[in-house]
Amino acid sequence: MRYEPRRGPRSWAAAAALVAALAVLSPPPLAADDGIGDPVRGQSLFVAKGCVGCHAVRGHGGRVGPDLGRTPAKGSFFEIAARMWNHSGMMGEKMQEFRTPRPVFEDDDLSHLTAFLYFLNYFDEPGDPRIGKVLFTEKHCVQCHQLGDEGGSEGPGLDELPRGTSPLRIAQDLWNHGPAMITSMRRRGLTVPVFNGDEIIDLFSYLRSQGRRRSNREFQSAGDPERGKLLFESNGCQRCHQVFGSEPGIGPDLGRSELRGSVTQLAGRMWNHLPAMSEDMKALDIEFPVFAEDDLAEIFAYLFFSRYDGEQGDAERGRVQFEAKGCAACHGLYGEGRGVGMGPAIRETTAGESKEHIVQRMWNHAPEMGKRMVHKQLDWPRFTADELADLLAFLAGGWSQEPGGELGR
Ligand code: HEC
Ligand code: HEC
Ligand code: HEC
Ligand code: HEC
Repeated sequence: MRYEPRRGPRSWAAAAALVAALAVLSPPPLAADDGIGDPVRGQSLFVAKGCVGCHAVRGHGGRVGPDLGRTPAKGSFFEIAARMWNHSGMMGEKMQEFRTPRPVFEDDDLSHLTAFLYFLNYFDEPGDPRIGKVLFTEKHCVQCHQLGDEGGSEGPGLDELPRGTSPLRIAQDLWNHGPAMITSMRRRGLTVPVFNGDEIIDLFSYLRSQGRRRSNREFQSAGDPERGKLLFESNGCQRCHQVFGSEPGIGPDLGRSELRGSVTQLAGRMWNHLPAMSEDMKALDIEFPVFAEDDLAEIFAYLFFSRYDGEQGDAERGRVQFEAKGCAACHGLYGEGRGVGMGPAIRETTAGESKEHIVQRMWNHAPEMGKRMVHKQLDWPRFTADELADLLAFLAGGWSQEPGGELGR
């Protein structure tokens, strides 16, 4: 597909389609001081800075670069930033090829953009109710629940669900009724359903499309992370799960473990573990948690927010990166700068800055840096998410006070 830079109906159409596709998403509310950018503003920047001309988000937008709603760059801020950085050489070439100006970021632009890309993952891809209908039978739901004209009567009729109710609300109902439901499944010799991949999204989209009742209050898929943290503690989750903790727990560390997928998929995995988890809870004398109102949404908002910041980088390892990736060759080992033709002093500009602001500076200066690197026949430095986290920890807080001084202080 040809991309028409900036003007031209195609990029407008792409932008409008993107906005329409994402308009229904309401990301979690943000506390003023939690340091995460605003994904809604990020979405506008994604259009305003021309990203949408080359990148689609779930099928809406350009085709020059990968669809950013479907790439695996979802782990944390560091993973998204590392990927943007690693690809910036190739992106730069494409920008020249299509004569799009390379975007320059100011204020909190990069922070908003990465928040937008990160929270894309929070939301589900649209499910397919036709697949969901098949699953409703395959997973035996139909044997106990009436929906439309078919279904058993051991469980409550599911067409009482409000139409269009949020998937997390259904997941929460499923969870709350889990122990009773599993007992009756076992009594009937039915296997307890397990949800893989998109199954839970398709199944729920079927349930949501069938509901008869209109709800007057839409349950929010997006919760308040602050409340979520409190609920995580008060429901006993933290007795078995750490979130970037220092000790092994009974359950997986919910900061570090691979939790790829949207909130609903996460709810699906939590459901999959319900039998094992409730055994452990009994053994530890923890009451089975029952969720009310937006509880589950809030707990998940807390987990998603924690994961954005990822694992704390290590400044000492970052210092090693600073040398190994060639930064020190141009900026000096103490960030004191090596003068014209090399690189400027960066110690003062990075010390105490947020990770987003440092990456923004690196991004803005990348073309100039790139030119000198070609000149010196240096390879473009590439980072894994962990390496970038270390490097940023060093740049923000690891400089020695004076050239020649002890590093780390
Ligand atoms: C002129 C086209 C173009 C523009 C404009 C553009 N990109 Fe890219 N982008 C690409 C290409 C091509 C790649 C893949 C590069 C590669 O494979 O090395 C890419 C890769 C990426 C990646 C890594 C994806 C992954 O999964 O590894 C991210 C993140 C990204 N771009 C974000 C952005 C953002 C944010 C903007 C707007 C500020 C933007 N891009 C603007 C062409 C573009
Ligand atoms: C063996 C019978 C049985 C099967 C199979 C079964 N359920 Fe249930 N379900 C029940 C019972 C019984 C309840 C009510 C439990 C209670 O009172 O706590 C229930 C409750 C529910 C609720 C809460 C309804 C409400 O009004 O709050 C939902 C949602 C639900 N089930 C969905 C499902 C889905 C989806 C499946 C298939 C994956 C399924 N059930 C399979 C028996 C079953
Ligand atoms: C008594 C210990 C215990 C408690 C309390 C507990 N969990 Fe778990 N949880 C586990 C175990 C063990 C697993 C892994 C089970 C398995 O591997 O089958 C697990 C798995 C999970 C998973 C799936 C992780 C993945 O990688 O797929 C999620 C999500 C989860 N728990 C969330 C919670 C939440 C939220 C709470 C609080 C409401 C909670 N857990 C309370 C023990 C517990
Ligand atoms: C080949 C030399 C060279 C290398 C290697 C290099 N830089 Fe730079 N860097 C520069 C130059 C030149 C500038 C100023 C660019 C400009 O003015 O646009 C710069 C600018 C910067 C800035 C912005 C400073 C400011 O005042 O805003 C940061 C931060 C930075 N570099 C960090 C790094 C890091 C981290 C590395 C290692 C991954 C690195 N640089 C590797 C030459 C280099």
